[in-house]
Amino acid sequence: MNPDGAIGVPGTPAWTREQATRVERTDDVVAPVIYPPQEDDAPDVHGWDTWVLRERDGTIATVDGWRVILSLTAPSDMLPGKRHDVAEIRYFYSRDGKNWIDGGPVFDRENCLGSRQWAGSALLDDDGQVYVFYTAAGRAVEEELSYHQRLAVGAGGTVETDADGLSIEGSWEHEVLVEPDGERYEREEQYRGMIYTFRDPWFFEDPATGETWLLFEANTPVPEGSDVCGGDPVQQEFNGSIATARSETGDPTDWTLEDPLLDAVCVNQELERPHVLVRDGRYYLFFSSHDHTFAPGLEGFDGLYGFVADSFRGEYRPLNGSGLVVTNPANAPYQAYSWLAFPHGEELLVSGFFNYYDLGPLTIDDVGHLPREEQLAKFGGTLTPTLRLRLEGDRTRIVGTLEHGHIPLEDEKLPPLDHDRVGDRTADDRYRRRF
Ligand code: FRU
Repeated sequence: MNPDGAIGVPGTPAWTREQATRVERTDDVVAPVIYPPQEDDAPDVHGWDTWVLRERDGTIATVDGWRVILSLTAPSDMLPGKRHDVAEIRYFYSRDGKNWIDGGPVFDRENCLGSRQWAGSALLDDDGQVYVFYTAAGRAVEEELSYHQRLAVGAGGTVETDADGLSIEGSWEHEVLVEPDGERYEREEQYRGMIYTFRDPWFFEDPATGETWLLFEANTPVPEGSDVCGGDPVQQEFNGSIATARSETGDPTDWTLEDPLLDAVCVNQELERPHVLVRDGRYYLFFSSHDHTFAPGLEGFDGLYGFVADSFRGEYRPLNGSGLVVTNPANAPYQAYSWLAFPHGEELLVSGFFNYYDLGPLTIDDVGHLPREEQLAKFGGTLTPTLRLRLEGDRTRIVGTLEHGHIPLEDEKLPPLDHDRVGDRTADDRYRRRF
């Protein structure tokens, strides 16, 4: 817990340094080495952060047998490292949850908020209206690209289907939902760290209370000169938090800021794309983070991190003791990130974004110095194989994989687990010997 009166909201559950020092690569959390899919469903675009169109209660929406995912995208001839500067939300639809058809951009670019749109979530409401929550990054008109971030929604879409497929139509109304208050959540001008965060809105309805929440990623204000993190100004820059806003009426366009669920002051800067799912009355909170966003003195990895609590507001305990749920193998540490967890019977499925592969000993910073063709050749720019995990109380374990980009419905039968994981290990060992 934060010491009372020290920073942010007193009493906010914390991801502590002590817990984070337990982060380590074990068989339970290390994903197999990932190779490109045989076929890319969307060769014209790089795709990364992806989310599923859902109903209010969190179940995957289907419309006349189709399900829909939304992804951040950029033209595939663009240098992968530049993609965040032009990100655009597109939708893809599928009948089998494996083969995805590109439906095109969701919004008309001119009407969106921000100079580009970053991650979010999507709701198909009971009355058939679609709400796409997103991060308005930058300002619509700006001479230089800025990292200004606001939570926004496009409201007023509908899903139409015919014999040929599905389309999301609408005269969208865009509005800003909440902005940081400077007390619970840092404003941009207060920020002292690497990349400011106030982004990635995730819609969640609590089945126990019926309350409607938005989760998102933010930073806890740490006043300069305070004695937080032993007064170390460098450590103080690591101040990520999981923020919340609430809609009292359930209206998806009407939100008020609420206290954070968790913060990671002196531990980590960016707790990306937070989302919650409920299983057996327990609340599982997940987010993604990176090796370079851990505070000095801590060794973390690009990966999916998770916490569990007995109610939505916590208090949250780290899964597996440390919080680490999925990470990349040591010999392919940047192969994937931006993971999304969803429940499936006794299993937890986790789909991520397939990033750089076959880098050998290169770090992510080296990639930008490679010739253009090589940067493009080593970039996945699509979804990972879906990982299958066992989830038992406070512990998780990777037990197998599904195909790249496979998003099964909740009642879909999955193939038996068999030797899945064993097969992956063999591939992993082969890869390891090459470097
Ligand atoms: C994580 C992320 C998100 C952000 C997006 C920008 O993958 O950093 O937090 O919305 O990428 O491209």
